[in-house]
Amino acid sequence: MNTRPVALITGASRGIGAATARALAPTHDLLLGGRDLESLQALVDELPHARPWPVELTDPTALHAVTSGLDRLDVLVHSAGVVDLGTIAETPAEVWRRTMEVNVIAVAELTRLLLPALRAARGHVVLVNSGAGLQANPGWGAYAASKFALRAFGDALRAEEHARGLRVTSVHPGRTDTDMQRSVREQEGGGDYDGAKYLRPESVSSAILAAVTASPDAHLTEIVVRPRA
Ligand SMILES: NC(=O)c1ccc[n+]([C@@H]2O[C@H](COP(=O)([O-])OP(=O)(O)OC[C@H]3O[C@@H](n4cnc5c(N)ncnc54)[C@H](OP(=O)(O)O)[C@@H]3O)[C@@H](O)[C@H]2O)c1
Repeated sequence: MNTRPVALITGASRGIGAATARALAPTHDLLLGGRDLESLQALVDELPHARPWPVELTDPTALHAVTSGLDRLDVLVHSAGVVDLGTIAETPAEVWRRTMEVNVIAVAELTRLLLPALRAARGHVVLVNSGAGLQANPGWGAYAASKFALRAFGDALRAEEHARGLRVTSVHPGRTDTDMQRSVREQEGGGDYDGAKYLRPESVSSAILAAVTASPDAHLTEIVVRPRA
């Protein structure tokens, strides 16, 4: 019988999600979420106990279909996310909707569908939040609002599921060297991109690993990871 714990990671095709997959691979069987099949397959080829788990997270029917066979889940890492910068004056409803849809509503729905499987394992939900979930700066309104909402979601889930032994960790990384950060710098008109200025995705996944491998009596509820000067 397979006794390795199972982890599902959304946003595993790139960036922080892919780094988290590599960090958990030695100890966990992995389901790798994303939409880019080629990237998912490349990661699956690299990691011995991984399977692709492709799904459009904003499609509730598809979410229902891909979660229906899962009855035990030890770790659920929500890393998928989107960002569109703009002041409140510049941001139309369409951007607010898309941001909330991916960063909050899809997280809530996927968690809801998988709660029986997570409860069965006394499992762990990791929410990849952001510094923007702690402080809202000019030009970051829609994204920050989605990450504040994600933090509230995590706090409520932790309180509701505490007695059942579920752990819920919000991880708040600062700027991290990924495709998302490249896009942010472009949107900011930032000139040449220098990834060395930012956190490595592996530094964020190390924090996630620390939460997941904390001793069973411990519950790391919030982790803030900032780039060191
Ligand atoms: N990078 C940073 O500076 C930074 C800082 C703080 C927090 N964060 C947070 O960290 C998390 C990961 O960010 P990242 O930098 O690794 O981003 P990234 O490199 O842009 O990767 C985003 C991931 O999300 C997936 N995704 C996006 N929309 C999706 C949808 N509708 N359905 C399914 N999958 C979807 C993408 O899948 P496909 O490519 O396969 O479509 C991709 O795997 C995000 O929640 C972000 O807000 C990032």
